[in-house]
Amino acid sequence: MADGKALFITLEGGEGAGKSTQIKRVAAALEQMGKQVVVTREPGGSKAAEAMRNLFIAENGAEWPLATQALLMFTARSHHTETLIKPALAEGKVVICDRYTDSTRVYQGYAGGMGLKAIDDIKELAIGDFEPDLTFILDIDPEIGLKRGAGRGNDTDTTFEQKDIEFHQALREGFLEIAEGNAVRCKVIDATQDEDSVAAAILAEVEKRMAA
Ligand code: TMP
Repeated sequence: MADGKALFITLEGGEGAGKSTQIKRVAAALEQMGKQVVVTREPGGSKAAEAMRNLFIAENGAEWPLATQALLMFTARSHHTETLIKPALAEGKVVICDRYTDSTRVYQGYAGGMGLKAIDDIKELAIGDFEPDLTFILDIDPEIGLKRGAGRGNDTDTTFEQKDIEFHQALREGFLEIAEGNAVRCKVIDATQDEDSVAAAILAEVEKRMAA
């Protein structure tokens, strides 16, 4: 886990919640404060994990058996965590990751239906008890999020975005349930606010954690 000034921050949420924009903003703000920041993403982040991401997208992994999806996510995550995230934290850097274990809990475990116990069993094998220091759940009604996300041309447009609205409602519920059960680590942010207000809320919380 992160020590001293190192901090492992993740952003989570359904489709179109605005994670990418906010990650850029918080990273820029922290760099201005003199912090060394590493921005990364999942699935992906390291070279091997990016290859797994490409496979997932090319093969429309959202339609794979759930165990295949979850195991791939944790295979990629194990490599990414050991080769990129932990070394950066050990150097005292702030690591900001677009999605992490909570996405597997919610996409495969909760909305997908594999169950949280199965996900946590795989997690234990892959990354042990490693968790982010701080997680922002960008919360938005999926009806709005999907409209926002459409046409952004993300490389993952063809995977989960085409699932029905009930799946996306379940994603939202799953993230909120995780936030409720992990109140110290997770902070829910109303992602329907304007971009500046979301950025200010995130930065205020990051600064609070850094000062703690
Ligand atoms: P992105 O669109 O935010 O880049 O995320 C890639 C897609 O992969 C997104 O639709 C969510 C999905 N995903 C999972 O299903 N499980 C996971 O563990 C992760 C990290 C992402």
